[in-house]
Amino acid sequence: MPSTRRLARKMSQAVGELSPGQVIIELGPGTGVCTRELLLMFPDNPIIAIEMNDHFATQLRRELPGVQILQGCASQLPQLLREHGIPLENVGAVVSGLPLLSLPRDITQAIIAAVVEVLPVGRPFIQFTYSTRAFSRLELTGLNPQPGRRVWMNLPPATVMPFTRH
Ligand SMILES: C[S@@+](CC[C@H](N)C(=O)[O-])C[C@H]1O[C@@H](n2cnc3c(N)ncnc32)[C@H](O)[C@@H]1O
Repeated sequence: MPSTRRLARKMSQAVGELSPGQVIIELGPGTGVCTRELLLMFPDNPIIAIEMNDHFATQLRRELPGVQILQGCASQLPQLLREHGIPLENVGAVVSGLPLLSLPRDITQAIIAAVVEVLPVGRPFIQFTYSTRAFSRLELTGLNPQPGRRVWMNLPPATVMPFTRH
């Protein structure tokens, strides 16, 4: 079930302030609900989306030509950014719609390590979850949790979980 616009808007608002040229990375854009909100909210910042699924990647390239879609696994994020010449110091935020609790544990931990590797200190990582309790069991070394925000207008209701790289 794709996220609602309400959830996508709350995810995008959690990005906060960006400087010109700072890049937003989106992990697991799917049909692009959150990508579209990011485009509306940050029309002047580059958006790079990492999607593993061939069908979604092709569809997003067709529908959102202003977004750079990189096809691959989010755990390869540092390599993907380097291959495409995107300096890591330009990363302003990472926004994730990945089902981190459903993926194999080693992949989830590799994705979190990849996010920590590319995020400059002080910059946000934003994830949503349907289970804050299960999410709190993940190892989130390098990320400081910030107050979450429940979004009832989603099926099922979700919590936006912002973190800051320390
Ligand atoms: C639950 S959907 C969320 C889609 C959208 N962000 C939303 O909120 O509606 C998860 C998306 O993550 C993608 N995905 C799953 N594992 C991935 C991985 N390891 N790397 C990149 N994308 C992945 C799936 O193909 C799917 O498009």
